[in-house]
Amino acid sequence: MNGPLCDTWLEGGHSSADRLTQQSHPTRYESPGLEYGTCFCSRGCEQSEEINVYIVGKHDAISNGEVRHLITRALLEAVSTEDLSVRILRGGYSDALVALCASSELSPVVLKFGPMEKIEAEHRNRLAYMGEDAWLEEHGLNELFAPVEIEIEHRKVEWSMIAYRYRGGGSFEELKHFNDFEGFIGSYLWSSDRDAAPSDNTVSECFRAMAFTLGADRGITQGGPLQSLAEYVPSVDWEEGVSAVIRTAAAFCPDLNELNGLREWWDENLNGVLFAPVHDRRRLHGDARFANVLVDDVRSEVHLIDFGSGRLGHVFEDFARFELDLLFKSVPKVNGSQEVDRAQLVTAVNFVLRDEVNLGNEELSSRSLKCLRLWRNAMCRSFPQLKHSGGLMMYRWFLLGECLKRTTWVNIDTAVLIFTICALRQYLSDGALDSTWISNAPQSLASQLQCRAAYVPTRGSERLVNNMRNDAKKGALSDHDRRKSAVRLLAETGQSYLSPRGVFSNEVRDVLRDGGRLQVVILNPLLTEYLGLSACYGGSGEDGYQANELLERKTQESIRGYQILEAEFGTAVELRLARFGLAQTILLTSGSSFLEPYFRYARIERERLLFDSFELELEGTGTHSRSLLEETFSFHWAHSDTCVPVKNTKGKHGK
Ligand SMILES: Nc1ncnc2c1ncn2[C@@H]1O[C@H](COP(=O)(O)OP(=O)(O)O)[C@@H](O)[C@H]1O
Ligand SMILES: [Mg+2]
Repeated sequence: MNGPLCDTWLEGGHSSADRLTQQSHPTRYESPGLEYGTCFCSRGCEQSEEINVYIVGKHDAISNGEVRHLITRALLEAVSTEDLSVRILRGGYSDALVALCASSELSPVVLKFGPMEKIEAEHRNRLAYMGEDAWLEEHGLNELFAPVEIEIEHRKVEWSMIAYRYRGGGSFEELKHFNDFEGFIGSYLWSSDRDAAPSDNTVSECFRAMAFTLGADRGITQGGPLQSLAEYVPSVDWEEGVSAVIRTAAAFCPDLNELNGLREWWDENLNGVLFAPVHDRRRLHGDARFANVLVDDVRSEVHLIDFGSGRLGHVFEDFARFELDLLFKSVPKVNGSQEVDRAQLVTAVNFVLRDEVNLGNEELSSRSLKCLRLWRNAMCRSFPQLKHSGGLMMYRWFLLGECLKRTTWVNIDTAVLIFTICALRQYLSDGALDSTWISNAPQSLASQLQCRAAYVPTRGSERLVNNMRNDAKKGALSDHDRRKSAVRLLAETGQSYLSPRGVFSNEVRDVLRDGGRLQVVILNPLLTEYLGLSACYGGSGEDGYQANELLERKTQESIRGYQILEAEFGTAVELRLARFGLAQTILLTSGSSFLEPYFRYARIERERLLFDSFELELEGTGTHSRSLLEETFSFHWAHSDTCVPVKNTKGKHGK
């Protein structure tokens, strides 16, 4: 991996600012095929004036001048009068500066800078976990680099550096064989190019390598003292946010009983197991997430990085962290979205919680489940005590502990995590699962139906809520993109939209004036259903089986309003009369959908209160709910008649 770096090594991430600066130094970096970097000289850098540093990318908080300063100081011994290429790598979850550096005399190496104590700990942990790295030693990069003072957001801080051997491709051809574990498994699971994706054997080999790395003999204390389960399972920082997340989740999902009293249950049951079935104490990696495992899929090698969280503990901790990444990242998403498929989550969690440690041996067609089984098999081979009586149950406590820790992480799918927590509690309590650990409570409304708002008038709030939903509808009509679709409305009378006196009449006119179209289906006054609705309005006449006057007036107002609009905007506005009864109002604009179900009751109240049903505002495109609403509208549109003004409908129904 010596020699100048090819351009793919520096791929991506050039801002236009970088390009502009490149043009001002067009001749500085002449190796063919190389991206130009940016030369930053904001500090005097008298100690390194001969090193030209070309930086691609940017750290969120550290200026490139400071980056240059750190790197030149750290590499002063290793690089002399050379041009140095630096690519800032996407940081993980710490604020560290991670940079890939190389020059013609320095093989690619990854330098990680961070606060002195943190980097010192990382260095110590790596040494204890992995021993000396011969390659780093040979290149004089194995020592912790002494602190350098730099400025971050106007504060002076002391940072140190740890070097890692670069685990990535040195050429375009090689690049695709290196990945972190997420990329590697992602390619196995989802790649449509099966020739390019890793084979079952490669995946199996990499899981084996991973399990053996995590389970390697590092000062294990065998057959140790009898300790309670609580002494092994890492403690949960309930007061540092975990309790708050669980409380919020419980409020959103009142149907998930497992969230109630979770902390008390956890304490009581952990302490209740006086003698843990499997003893272990060893040096742990401490953060065996996919992002900290780099894979070379040609050699089926895995390389751990990021030793900052190393500590002593039970090997189940490292296994559980890795396995949960595998579980969460291998559950398929709903087609074309980022939403985890909940049916598949149920399958995967049920699978992981099977009673056989090895997860059975029947033929599996799902690659996701196959991965979980391959990993479990590797884990059992690396740490056979897992098969001891009670071993698997003990491991599940670690899985639950790891889930609880993750509740305070950022960028996680909280719903999936919460459901898994419920499943684990259920399993650890009852030794079995029903599927009620998936919530169907209001948060599902938000996440699955993409519901943006629910307008629910409670006593006294009717006017307020009515105004809010009217504002939301006005907003949706004003934001309507006429190039995308027509505004579509399915309603009992449509009076609010079509009548010149209707609350939305201005917005409707604006849509049409803007070149948009409006399609409306309303209830046909000749339908029997019209009489049902009339009965709600208080009926009419003594026998009650006649159209209601108020209702009729509304319908007539709509039809007249339509005629006025038609005279002005022609066929851009269409009104049709439904052949079947309507169960709800549906309003569809390009960006929003509104749904108000109808209820049958005396509507006199409604006239007084303006609003006594409820209405949902849903996402406008690409969702399950939107297609249901669109199909409903289309159905009524297809089964409707053009509007002939109806006069004097009285007496058409009835005896
Ligand atoms: N030795 C290496 N070879 C290739 N890429 C690396 C190497 N070390 C780190 N990286 C990349 O940089 C990212 C951040 O490094 P890491 O040490 O995990 O920092 P953090 O503490 O911010 O998570 C990694 O997820 C990986 O993509
Ligand atoms: Mg990391």
